[in-house]
Amino acid sequence: MNQMELSFSATLDNENFARSVAGAFMTQLNPTIDEVIEMKTIVAEAVSNAIIHGYNHNAECKVMMKMTIENREVKLIVQDFGKGIENPEEVKTPFYTTQKDLEHAGMGLTIIETLADSLEIESVINIGTKLIITKSLKNHG
Ligand SMILES: Nc1ncnc2c1ncn2[C@@H]1O[C@H](COP(=O)(O)OP(=O)(O)OP(=O)(O)O)[C@@H](O)[C@H]1O
Ligand SMILES: [Mg+2]
Repeated sequence: MNQMELSFSATLDNENFARSVAGAFMTQLNPTIDEVIEMKTIVAEAVSNAIIHGYNHNAECKVMMKMTIENREVKLIVQDFGKGIENPEEVKTPFYTTQKDLEHAGMGLTIIETLADSLEIESVINIGTKLIITKSLKNHG
């Protein structure tokens, strides 16, 4: 088992930072390029949701990211202590968004579900939201 934990300010400037850290941490598993791209995409969608929806871009708030590697399974937790979600099951629906504009298709959580093996959402209004994501990497070489 190998684990890392990261806490950073809730600004989209840190989205790339979080993606890169996740990519760097998983290199020990000798992943394929596709697996790295998929994990980075998952992180980007989860982290941007925390910043945009959880915290409404309030950079004084902190996003927490935790990764655990066990055998070839990566477990990723992205957590905010912001607004929370009223119905965590409903938000996974493709095209569901509370921010209907050109930039938000309502596809972030659907993309995570597609690229990961599992996605759990734990959320309490005004307490925050925790995404628990698992993805097993293939055995190769
Ligand atoms: N961390 C969060 N805190 C509060 N609400 C959230 C959080 N993450 C998601 N949501 C809610 O779930 C909805 C769906 O999220 P999803 O990522 O699928 O779409 P989106 O962010 O609206 O659009 P896109 O990701 O395509 O830009 C959001 O519009 C928001 O209402
Ligand atoms: Mg989103």
